[in-house]
Amino acid sequence: MRGLKDKVVLITGAASGIGRATVLRFAEEGARVVVADFADGSATVEEVKAKGAAALYVQVDVVSPDSVRAMVDQTVAAFGRVDVLINNAGITKDAMMKKMSKEAWDDVVAVNLTGVFNCTSAVLPHLLEQKSGVVLTSSSVVGLYGNLGQTNYAATKWGVIGMTKSWAKEMARNGLRFNCVAPGFIGTEMVRKIPEQVLNEKILIKVPAGRLGEPEEVAAAFAFLASDDAQFINGAVLSIDGGCTL
Ligand code: CAA
Ligand code: NAI
Repeated sequence: MRGLKDKVVLITGAASGIGRATVLRFAEEGARVVVADFADGSATVEEVKAKGAAALYVQVDVVSPDSVRAMVDQTVAAFGRVDVLINNAGITKDAMMKKMSKEAWDDVVAVNLTGVFNCTSAVLPHLLEQKSGVVLTSSSVVGLYGNLGQTNYAATKWGVIGMTKSWAKEMARNGLRFNCVAPGFIGTEMVRKIPEQVLNEKILIKVPAGRLGEPEEVAAAFAFLASDDAQFINGAVLSIDGGCTL
């Protein structure tokens, strides 16, 4: 991909799943990567370093503005700048609406929506000063179309699309780009929590591709959207779902 070499790419939720695959993809493209996660990401960093690329692990809780500010400070201290933020950290706390607790609502909103606000706010002064930068955020097929048992999650994944489109309108004139990916069902820990009967009999049968997506397939979309090949793409939502919404 054009324009990714030496870029400083900060990825949240990067210790596992889609985030980890994204770290490895950007490292292959020659970028310098920050593995930011609540969980330990040092194994991912070692993997990147073994390939000869530069990487840093930063522990962060995206819910906490102080923790997020420290993450950005550590990134700039290590690499001098930040070029790309990937808001990938996310959680589910599924329950049918009639059983959904206020706690499950609050927890998912805190990570998936307020976390995206916190991280984007913290990198923004750097991007605006540079007059360049890209912010990519994980939405979901569930944000676009809703899903049984996911009132809280769907609200956040629809919410980040509205935030992204607003930022694109506000800051395209400053040389910044903001886009979302909307993955379908991807084979990570998050999907492994779905009851097997539901996954096989209710979800997978609706995917024309007939399979779960791979984390690397979402990572490829992030790499494209961050690259100079996507220079005129702003405020977009790119579905990577094997056609499950057709
Ligand atoms: N799609 C279609 N039907 C579903 C469904 C889904 N996602 N989830 C549940 N159902 C159906 C069940 O098959 C069941 O149908 P029958 O009565 O015909 O058997 C009915 O709804 C009730 O389900 P449960 O008996 O399981 O009800 P519960 O109250 O015990 O549990 C639940 C409800 C917690 C929502 C559980 O069913 C569940 O976890 N479902 C999966 C929810 C889901 O799809 N989560 C996606 C996680 S991955 C992700 O979020 C990433 C992403 O962005 C795509
Ligand atoms: P995952 O559960 O494998 O990884 C999520 C990572 O986020 C974990 O490493 C976790 O430690 C980290 N995290 C959670 N809370 C955090 C917090 N407060 N601060 C910092 N890090 C935190 O999940 P997966 O599947 O890789 O998901 C990544 C993103 O992609 C999420 O935003 C998810 O909603 C989205 N997505 C996933 C899909 C899927 O089918 N797996 C489909 C569509 C979207």
